[in-house]
Amino acid sequence: MLVHIPNILTPAEVDHCRAELEETVWVDGRVTAGRQSAEAKFNLQVPEDAPQARALGDIVLKGLARSALFASAVLPLKVFPPLFNRYDTGMRFDAHVDNAVRFVTGTPVRLRTDVSATLFLTAPEDYDGGELVVQDTYGTHSVKLPAGDMVVYPSTSLHNVTPVTRGSRWASFFWIQSMVRDDGKRSLLFDLDEAIQGVRQTIGEHPAAVQLTGVYHNLLRRWADT
Ligand code: NI
Repeated sequence: MLVHIPNILTPAEVDHCRAELEETVWVDGRVTAGRQSAEAKFNLQVPEDAPQARALGDIVLKGLARSALFASAVLPLKVFPPLFNRYDTGMRFDAHVDNAVRFVTGTPVRLRTDVSATLFLTAPEDYDGGELVVQDTYGTHSVKLPAGDMVVYPSTSLHNVTPVTRGSRWASFFWIQSMVRDDGKRSLLFDLDEAIQGVRQTIGEHPAAVQLTGVYHNLLRRWADT
């Protein structure tokens, strides 16, 4: 399931991130790539332990915490400290699947990557190419979103970033271990939650809405790791 989550960052927060990133060091993106993806990856990123990455990552985490849609769609258990990358003209990332397990450098923390996230930091009109292309069971999805918006998709998906042909595409990217590891179960819970919100808005706290909410929580209780 691929979900577009608008307005994770405000325009002011995007401007702040971009101004800070202008001042930082960029290194070859292959520093965090696995063996297969290292051969496919041609971009730049901010080192994981750079002070700017941690400070800006915290801004992204606060944005996630404000989003009810993120919570409902992802059911996050652990979020990898957000990283930042850029694709200048000519750069790309060929088809790959993200590593299954990620270690947070310099800490004992590790997480299983259930959900991958890309938060766009460049307005779509400022570059050409650079689409995130995600292949899932429903076909191929091409994603390019306004600055401040994010897409989440199953980390099991084969995906690529098409070559940038004009300008430079900046983004934050990271992974989430979900309380519900299975994408099919997570999608069902998301659909049910959306439906319950719709029912509530239409008929209020009808006993059937209360019962449906109970079903949601009892399914989550059955499926969640905490
Ligand atoms: Ni990837």
